[in-house]
Amino acid sequence: MAVSRTRRSCLAVPGSSQKMIDKARTLPADHVFLDLEDACAPLAKPAARARIVAALNEGGWDHRVRAVRVNDWTTEWTYRDVMEVVEGAGANLDCVVLPKVQTAKQVEALDLLLTQIEKAIGLPAGGIGVEAQIEDAQGLVEVDTIAAASPRLEALVFGPADFMASVAMRSLAVGEQPPGYDVGDAYHYVLMRILMAARANGLQAIDGPYPRIHDHDGFARVAGRSAALGLDGKWVLHPGQIEAANAMFSPGQRDYDHAENVLDAYEYYTSEAGGTRGAAMLGDEMIDEASRKMALVVSGKGRAAGMSRADRWVPPGR
Ligand code: GLV
Ligand code: MG
Repeated sequence: MAVSRTRRSCLAVPGSSQKMIDKARTLPADHVFLDLEDACAPLAKPAARARIVAALNEGGWDHRVRAVRVNDWTTEWTYRDVMEVVEGAGANLDCVVLPKVQTAKQVEALDLLLTQIEKAIGLPAGGIGVEAQIEDAQGLVEVDTIAAASPRLEALVFGPADFMASVAMRSLAVGEQPPGYDVGDAYHYVLMRILMAARANGLQAIDGPYPRIHDHDGFARVAGRSAALGLDGKWVLHPGQIEAANAMFSPGQRDYDHAENVLDAYEYYTSEAGGTRGAAMLGDEMIDEASRKMALVVSGKGRAAGMSRADRWVPPGR
């Protein structure tokens, strides 16, 4: 089972902007990734590597997951991105985000390179995690083997912008339904496919960016859909999207309380004191082992989000 970190909101920060890096340390995102890929112009990449190393080593990231997105393996930049960042700041780095993953071999290549660098600089081998972005047709077709490619993998991340371009979707509005498609959700298959591959391998599944940063209703609608399906979080491109993502990917208070109550009630009813029952009534609802599993998911998300109970079930007669 991969390391599980909280990733409700994953903040994209261009590695070329010191101002945005400094600001990111003050924001309530669960996860921050310093970007060497598409948010960093080619000529700015070498200086951005050094800036990222300094930013990671300076600290101040508190509970936030510290990640760096390197360039994809078809470019000339990937090996230097990984070497410079990990040699320079590997002890202060949680994960590498690998974009445009098309084959399991690309994840394996990153794993091998990370292992060598970890050994060379005295870090525990395998300590740095990997997040793989699925953002084109080939990556989606290969997603099952990609998801099983390395024990370092922690999450699969959907990249809607590159994906829309890859499949020639006739729209420029990232994350929104393509105009003219009026019979369902154009992303349902993709998100479910990624979610299945992730869950089958014990990984998290993360939705990508929503670039219309001032459209708060649009963000809430799109994030709400992914959260409802079961994804663990979403990229955020602007401070104004963070609180919404944190709220969307946490259970509501009533659902959280209900989940904790199902767990307590089921534990009681299956015990001797509760009559060793496999199925029991909680209010007007019948609960059994499957209810417990569902409740564990919701309570797990709530606990990870630091929620506390507002309503507590008490066993009969107490
Ligand atoms: C993110 O990388 C995307 O392509 O949407
Ligand atoms: Mg992309």
